Amino acid sequence: MKQLIKMIFAVSIAAASSSVMAGADIKAGEEKATACAACHGAVGVSASPMFPTLAGQHADYMVQTLKAYKSGKRKNPIMQGTAAALSDEDILNLAAYFASQTGLKTLKR
Ligand code: HEC
Repeated sequence: MKQLIKMIFAVSIAAASSSVMAGADIKAGEEKATACAACHGAVGVSASPMFPTLAGQHADYMVQTLKAYKSGKRKNPIMQGTAAALSDEDILNLAAYFASQTGLKTLKR
């Protein structure tokens, strides 16, 4: 039973994350990401602790975060200005691009 619950949970997570990625264009995201490189690094790995590394970040987190900057829910003057110029499509593509990279590491279960 426990195993079954685990399985259902894993499948629903997979379904939720794939819905975020549906229709996202990694190549278009890569092109847009040139605007982010000055601060977040050429391949999403930031050279300075002032700027978070984006490479390998979960796409869903990136989408939520960029929308929160855009709406002003998450406040940061630099990122608010940057996110304001992004369409919902840009956000999906950027999230797909950074999520496709390796960089951030999470602990193994
Ligand atoms: C001028 C520098 C600068 C540029 C350009 C820039 N960022 Fe940022 N970014 C920052 C800073 C500083 C933060 C940390 C802000 C905070 O504390 O909320 C940040 C935070 C973020 C975060 C949140 C990371 C986290 O771990 O919560 C995301 C996502 C992000 N930026 C995406 C982007 C994307 C995508 C672009 C290009 C379209 C971009 N940024 C361009 C400076 C920049």
